[in-house]
Amino acid sequence: MDYISKFEELKSKNLSLDLTRGKPSADQLDLSNDLAAFRGNYFISDGVDIRNYGEIKGIDGCRELGSKILGCSKDYIWAGGNSSLSLMSQFLSFLFVEGNGTGPWSNKERVSILCPVPGYDRHFKLCETFGINMIPVSLTGEGPDLNEIQTLVETDESIRGIWCVPKYSNPTGEIYSSEVTEGLLEIFSNSKTKSIIFWDNAYAVHDLSDQTPLFDIFSLAKNNDCEDVVVEFGSTSKITFAGAGVGFIAMSELNQESFLPFYSALMIGPDKLNQARHVRFFQENDLQEHMRRHADIVKPKFDLVNNRLESMGLGAWTSPEGGYFILFESDIGMARNIISLAAELGLKLTPAGATHPYGIDQEDKFIRIAPTACSIEELDAAMDVFSCCVGLAYEQVRKV
Ligand SMILES: Cc1ncc(COP(=O)(O)O)c(C=O)c1O
Repeated sequence: MDYISKFEELKSKNLSLDLTRGKPSADQLDLSNDLAAFRGNYFISDGVDIRNYGEIKGIDGCRELGSKILGCSKDYIWAGGNSSLSLMSQFLSFLFVEGNGTGPWSNKERVSILCPVPGYDRHFKLCETFGINMIPVSLTGEGPDLNEIQTLVETDESIRGIWCVPKYSNPTGEIYSSEVTEGLLEIFSNSKTKSIIFWDNAYAVHDLSDQTPLFDIFSLAKNNDCEDVVVEFGSTSKITFAGAGVGFIAMSELNQESFLPFYSALMIGPDKLNQARHVRFFQENDLQEHMRRHADIVKPKFDLVNNRLESMGLGAWTSPEGGYFILFESDIGMARNIISLAAELGLKLTPAGATHPYGIDQEDKFIRIAPTACSIEELDAAMDVFSCCVGLAYEQVRKV
C-alpha cells in the first residue's frame, strides 16, 4: 500500500471524525426513550412521596435495580444521582475529611492509590484532583499482578487502595478472575494501612454476546471476613441515558454507617423521580433483553474495528467480549505519532498516554479506540484513516 498517497487523498477529504470517548450512540439512547415518556401518577413509590426530600439511600425499587445490575444484595446498595463518578468523588471526599478508621486522609503526609495500567483516565484525573499519588501496576489479562501489588503494599505505607474495573476493564477489556480478586482481598485486608478496593463495575451487564454475570465481590469478601475493604460503584449511564441515569454505590454495613452522616451533609436526598422512572422502565423492559438490544447495535462496530485491524495486520489489539473499548498496541514509541497523523486527517483519538497515570505511557504504544458513539459509516471512515496512519507510522520507522 502506498500510504503517502493514501494519506494525501484522505487529507483532501477534510474529514471530521472522533473515536475518543466511550459514549452510547443516539440509537442506543433511543432504546430508553420511554423513560422520558412516563406520565401519570407515579409520585408514590413504596409509600414514599418521591417529589419530596428524603430517602437519602435512594428508593427501595431502585436499590433493587442496582442490585440486579451489580449482582450483590440490595442491602449493600444505595441509589444516588446521575453518575457513579460523582459518587466516587463523594466517597473520596469522605476519606479525606473523615477517613476510614485511621483519621482523615488529608492529615497524611502522602496518600497513594494503585492504578492498574492501561486504565481509565477519569480515575487518574480524580486522583490528581485530590492530590493522590498514583502508582501504576501491570494487568495480566485477568486482573492486576498480585506479586507486584504484594511487594508494593509491603514496602510503601502510603498505599491506601486500588482502582479496579473488574469486568471489561477500561480500556483492556479484561475480566478479573475470582482467584485474582480473592488475592486482592487478602492483600488489602491484611495491609498495615486500612485500604479500599475501589471496585468500579461500570460494565457489569455490558456483554456483546453471552450474558455472563461476574461473581459478587461482597460474597467473596464475606467468606474472608473483609467486606469493609470493598466499595463498589456502577450506574445506568450506558444502560439508559448517559448523563440522566442513576449511579450506585455499594458498601458493607459498617461503611454505610460511617459514610451516611457525611453523605447526608452533602444533600437531603437524590432525584427520586428519575429513580422511579428507572424502576418503572425496568418493570416494563427486561434488563437482559434491553442489554441484548444494546449489543445488537454495539457488536457490529466492535466487529468492524476488529476486521479492519486484522486486514491492516500491524500492531496488536484486544477483542473484548463487552464493554466500550478496544485497545490498540503499536510497537514501542509510535502511539504519539499515529495520533498526531490521525489528527492531521481530521480523526480525533484519545491523547497518547491517557491510559496511564499522569498521562505518561513510558513505552508510547497504547491507543484507546472507542467505537460506539459514531455510526457504522463514520466508524468505517475512521478506521480507514486509522489504518493509513498506523501504516504510515510503521513505514516511517522502517525507513529510519
Ligand atoms: C470504568 C468507568 N467508570 C465510570 C465511568 C463513568 O460512569 P458514570 O457515567 O456513572 O459517572 C466510565 C465511563 O466511561 C467508565 O469507563
